[in-house]
Amino acid sequence: GRTAALIPAAGSGTRLGRGPKAFVEVAGKSLLARSVAALAPLVDEVLVALPEGLTLPEGVPARAIGGGATRQESVRRLLRATTAEVVLVHDAARPFLPAQVVHALLEAIPETGAATAALPVADTLVRGAAGRWADPVARDGLWAVQTPQGFRREVLLRAHAAAQAGGHTATDDAGLVARLGLPVTLVPGDARLFKVTAPGDLALAQAVAAMWDA
Ligand code: C5P
Repeated sequence: GRTAALIPAAGSGTRLGRGPKAFVEVAGKSLLARSVAALAPLVDEVLVALPEGLTLPEGVPARAIGGGATRQESVRRLLRATTAEVVLVHDAARPFLPAQVVHALLEAIPETGAATAALPVADTLVRGAAGRWADPVARDGLWAVQTPQGFRREVLLRAHAAAQAGGHTATDDAGLVARLGLPVTLVPGDARLFKVTAPGDLALAQAVAAMWDA
């Protein structure tokens, strides 16, 4: 069956403060161009959701559609634009995607229909209240969820339809699938898959780019 990469890239990048985030460059290459370049060799088609009114930069091998007001709406639109049997959803804001993670996802998807990259949490976790340490959270068995996330398209369509019908939101697609009580496989993510969110992340991204591009 065919595989499509779906890249929500329609965020405004408010926290980063550099304009639409997917278009921000790190070492001369945009976050979007880096994400597309990582996925294009591994899938049959790449679809990107862009902010209204923006177009794909030249030389980025993908098809663009208009994104929505939320990440969830952008993914829903991307889903409607493909008939691929398997879809990989990946944030444009995670520009350093090792091929190994994609291979692991593609291997896991046939088993359960849904899988996500994730890393065991390394830091101590605590619930805070009014800026004070309230309750420690046992770190055991906790994972930090990343993208890419892979699905049989029909599974993710069902999850998005249910979310829309129920008015639910989730920060990612695996969360919508899990909400239906369906299994989601955790496959090893990668520290380099961090999401570029705040200005400080750009310094980290420059450092990773120096190794990545070498
Ligand atoms: O805001 P955040 O960094 O969590 O966004 C994650 C991804 O979702 C980014 O790649 C962003 O461009 C995308 N997004 C989108 N449409 C929105 C909001 C975010 O495609 N309306």
